[in-house]
Amino acid sequence: MTLAAELSITDLKPGFGARIQGIDLPTASDAAIDDVVATFHRHGAIVLRDQKMTPDDLMRFIGRFGDPEDHTQTRFTLPGYPKIFILSNRIVEGQPIGAHNDGVGWHTDYSYKPEPVMLTMLYAVEVPEEGSDTLLADGCAAWNALPADKQAMLEGLSLHHSYKHFMATRAFGDKQTLSPEMEAANPDVEHPLIRTHPADGRKALWPSTGTVTEVIGMPGPAGLALLDELVEFMTQEQFVYRHKWKAGDLLMWDNRCTLHTGTLYDDTKYFRTMHRLWVKGDKPY
Ligand code: SIN
Repeated sequence: MTLAAELSITDLKPGFGARIQGIDLPTASDAAIDDVVATFHRHGAIVLRDQKMTPDDLMRFIGRFGDPEDHTQTRFTLPGYPKIFILSNRIVEGQPIGAHNDGVGWHTDYSYKPEPVMLTMLYAVEVPEEGSDTLLADGCAAWNALPADKQAMLEGLSLHHSYKHFMATRAFGDKQTLSPEMEAANPDVEHPLIRTHPADGRKALWPSTGTVTEVIGMPGPAGLALLDELVEFMTQEQFVYRHKWKAGDLLMWDNRCTLHTGTLYDDTKYFRTMHRLWVKGDKPY
């Protein structure tokens, strides 16, 4: 791939993710942004540092990847920007301004929907000096590392995902009993455990925690034990990129071939405020 002259790209991990340098997103040329988009699709995740992005800049940039997706919970969207969701532990005038510890636990975003989001973008507004790293696990590398007999055993299995179950049982973030309207808007779905990337047919291990209630055809503890085993396998250090945040960082990942998790931090000492945006995806197969 020929890149716009000013861009430089280095792997986040061998074969996974890219750090892109030499670009100021709000003022970059269309050609340079095209290269950023292409790099994202080739590498599964990208990091750009030292970006000063207004909400309008974020909206313009995300629009280059596809249609921004709505957020399931609307309470913490940025005023005037319904597609920008705030993650934060800040309280202003007695009210939280964002969802706190919303993404802690290995998962893939919007897995409880028929068409889960294609990508997630996090932009760091303010971050702690320590803790609160975001971890990304490479589902393709994990799949390729499985022995052929295990691959054959897993291929064809599906998972039952439930937003209702997730919101009632989540370990971090606010638990919630869904209103009848929210329940009707978020019916349970089934998705494959092994996902094929529509761009090039590469396969990824695609389990998740939180939303999964059952491995179809393997009900009860045996299925859930298999799921735990696969999440543990995929999130071994060799498959994981750990992002240590600085304000102005922009991290994006492809939910079709990754799992991710936020991590805890000392929220009595530090503030963390992030803007999260999603791009619409398609039906997994
Ligand atoms: C998320 O899972 O959407 C957020 C992860 C994080 O806050 O690091």
